Amino acid sequence: MGVIAAVLLIIGAKVMENRQEKIIELIGLTRRFEDGVVAVDNIDLYVRKGEFVTFLGPSGCGKTTTLRMIAGFDKPTSGKILLNGEDISALPPNKRPINTVFQRYALFPHLNVYDNVAFGLKLKKIEKEVTDGNGNTKVKQIKYDKKTIAAKVDKVLKMVDLEGFEKRSVSTLSGGQQQRVAIARALVNEPEILLLDEPLGALDLKMRKDMQLELKEMHRKLGITFIYVTHDQEEALTMSDTIVVMKDGIIQQIGKPTDIYNEPKNAFVADFIGDSNIFSGTMVGKNKVRFIGKTFDCVDDFAKNEKVDVVVRPEDVFLMDEDKGQVNGKIVSSIFKGVHYEMVMKVGKSEVVAQSTVQFARRKGKRIYPPGRYTHYGKGIFR
Ligand SMILES: Nc1ncnc2c1ncn2[C@@H]1O[C@H](COP(=O)(O)OP(=O)(O)O)[C@@H](O)[C@H]1O
Ligand SMILES: [Mg+2]
Repeated sequence: MGVIAAVLLIIGAKVMENRQEKIIELIGLTRRFEDGVVAVDNIDLYVRKGEFVTFLGPSGCGKTTTLRMIAGFDKPTSGKILLNGEDISALPPNKRPINTVFQRYALFPHLNVYDNVAFGLKLKKIEKEVTDGNGNTKVKQIKYDKKTIAAKVDKVLKMVDLEGFEKRSVSTLSGGQQQRVAIARALVNEPEILLLDEPLGALDLKMRKDMQLELKEMHRKLGITFIYVTHDQEEALTMSDTIVVMKDGIIQQIGKPTDIYNEPKNAFVADFIGDSNIFSGTMVGKNKVRFIGKTFDCVDDFAKNEKVDVVVRPEDVFLMDEDKGQVNGKIVSSIFKGVHYEMVMKVGKSEVVAQSTVQFARRKGKRIYPPGRYTHYGKGIFR
């Protein structure tokens, strides 16, 4: 794959110095299954305390396997997982301060909301120092009493907005409500880290969007670390502090949503995140790249004559009147997408996709120009 030259200028988001400590570190983490499939291939990554990190990638890229290893449900073939600097490879799942919300909520259908949430707490053993008649103290394993359990369940049900639902059978709840129960059940253990594996996958679009915002708000309030898995790029961009893009068990890019969107490291990331035009281009000078028969300014610089993949986001292609832009083209299709129209233009042999809230008539001459705050890179005409 060639190097990539993003044509857009990036608005320089200020990078805040972040001294927060690492809570999870994956070092050379690898999981090879018995049939030879390498689901996770030597990944290195750290997650900071309190961060919202999202693993994003197509189905089968190793997201769930990574999460299962962090949770302790699966063991790495090689590599290490550190929690607060200590190797937790030998710790069973219930000894890790980590809880998981699964894609399928895995609720107990025969139990009501309260009992679903309380289930783990009832089984949980906690250590308590007790003093016997002779004044000797020793550590005893005890269970939570009923009152403590009730208080903890009440607290998390409030948190997920399910107060008053205690007695409801979970099978009578909507998908969104069931998801809240699953989240409450994970939060009731007061984990340091919450793992969420495509938790909104079964919800319809509207509910998913609402829950995205709710989860983000929950993350903010709780202040704990969220590690989230999704194949939905918009979800990842909406929710995350940091996105980890994966493909075939390998990390492609780690960055803030704006970095991942504006400065994709390779054509896979560019294509996966957002809509992109990807052209083959050649560097012709400092921050100058030539493609579709014209020379444009670009963000990244590479050696002269180097072949590059050029990424142009459709929303950064502007349509203007004939001969006012840089290249002429012909609009060959225009589709209404809700917020904008998506128009495809032919420029020589290349196709350029543009998005605009204004529809341009087919065959009518229009041009491309850059938005004001960007430097000039593309003035084009389409007819
Ligand atoms: N238990 C397993 N045995 C063999 N192969 C598996 C197993 N679990 C997952 N895989 C394979 O590992 C790869 C990654 O799977 P997974 O982590 O579930 O991906 P994702 O969650 O990103 O969709 C896939 O090729 C999948 O078929
Ligand atoms: Mg998965």
